[in-house]
Amino acid sequence: MPLIPLEDNFDDVINKVQRGLQVSDEALANRAEISLEDLHKVKNGEVIPPVIRRVARHLGLNAPALESLARHAWYPEVPVFPRGFAAFNTAFGDMRVNSYLIWDAKSREAVAFDTGSSVDGMLDVINSDRLRLKYVFITHNHEDHIAALPELVSAHPEAEVWSHREEPLTLESAQHFDEGVHFHVGSMDIKTLVTSGHSAGQTTYFVKGLSWPLAVIGDSLFSCSVGGSPTHFRDQLANNRRKIFTLPRDTVLAPGHGPITSLAQEKKHNPVFCYG
Ligand SMILES: [Fe+2]
Repeated sequence: MPLIPLEDNFDDVINKVQRGLQVSDEALANRAEISLEDLHKVKNGEVIPPVIRRVARHLGLNAPALESLARHAWYPEVPVFPRGFAAFNTAFGDMRVNSYLIWDAKSREAVAFDTGSSVDGMLDVINSDRLRLKYVFITHNHEDHIAALPELVSAHPEAEVWSHREEPLTLESAQHFDEGVHFHVGSMDIKTLVTSGHSAGQTTYFVKGLSWPLAVIGDSLFSCSVGGSPTHFRDQLANNRRKIFTLPRDTVLAPGHGPITSLAQEKKHNPVFCYG
């Protein structure tokens, strides 16, 4: 599979944080004591380190990480799962969205996280590995993440569909959970953590029992960026810090868009969350 590009470029990250914190270009230039012209140059891809440093400081971002993003100098390394984990990347309009499947090698029970726009790849793995789909967990209810849910459920009507109480039910048969619930599948333990902001009941699923601890994080966080929200951006930042950035360092992060990464790497390279 070709490498999945980072979800957000340098200018996307700045714009997203500005929108979330409601800081206009004029206000940012003013506070950072830079010219509007320099701000626009930087947003258009020119790497001017002193300007990037000032922008970073006034938006609460890590300057070296932001500069490295501007230079396209880093891309996450993906850890190897010998078995029990598969990632799918499907096209939804002009964007691409991720969905995931995990399974217990012994009991052959499987769990899907979101569906993306097509479950063809997921159904192939389920069939070829002779898995039984026990649960479908929804990170959040935005259309790109659940577009192929009817198809998945009609192929596996035995699977239970779950999401957090604050997300509208996706199907009549779907069920709601609260935060802090544990689901058990074979030797795997899946815990629900609400990392809302981008959407009201957006959930991170923390999985133990695979080769690495795994967090399926939806649009809470992307490699080198964060989930956007025009209204609840500060909640997204706070929830990520409190619930994702306190997970074990070797936790693999499986986001709704962009490449898979790890907590250790984001602690070093994500301009929104690293502290140098
Ligand atoms: Fe999304």
